Amino acid sequence: MKYRSRNIAQTESIAAKLAGSLEDRRCVALYGELGAGKTQFVRGLVAGLGGNPRAVSSPTFVLLNVYTAGTTTVHHLDAYRVAGSRDFEQIGFSELLEQDGVIVIEWAEKVADLLPPRRIDVRIEIISASQRQITIERIG
Ligand SMILES: Nc1ncnc2c1ncn2[C@@H]1O[C@H](COP(=O)(O)OP(=O)(O)O)[C@@H](O)[C@H]1O
Ligand SMILES: [Mg+2]
Repeated sequence: MKYRSRNIAQTESIAAKLAGSLEDRRCVALYGELGAGKTQFVRGLVAGLGGNPRAVSSPTFVLLNVYTAGTTTVHHLDAYRVAGSRDFEQIGFSELLEQDGVIVIEWAEKVADLLPPRRIDVRIEIISASQRQITIERIG
């Protein structure tokens, strides 16, 4: 599914809509360059799950943020600064995948080999200063 977002609010509402259709899929992999809107997308996802979007911040330096959202837990990871999959394994990524809750990963391409085969891929492309193309694909 392809969407065009013209502002932050639209990106958030596209993400919130996805939150309502995750079904049994618990892993959302985000792709897109710096400033594309990945963290903004996570805000919409958390809001859509019943959480507080203002609690969302970029986990670039801490690798993992955890939010309560409605009845679920959101694990928010950012692989931007990881050297490779081993860093992710060390923070217990495989164990996270086995727990309940939603996992959303920025810079998912950096840990491609660790991603579960059933997941949702979200690609965000910068079209202009305020426009984004968002492609959402159910994998597996
Ligand atoms: N349509 C849009 N959707 C999302 N972000 C947008 C949009 N238009 C402008 N922006 C800006 O782009 C930046 C996205 O930042 P962020 O979500 O932190 O990106 P990333 O996590 O991909 O590095 C923010 O400064 C935001 O205000
Ligand atoms: Mg980010």
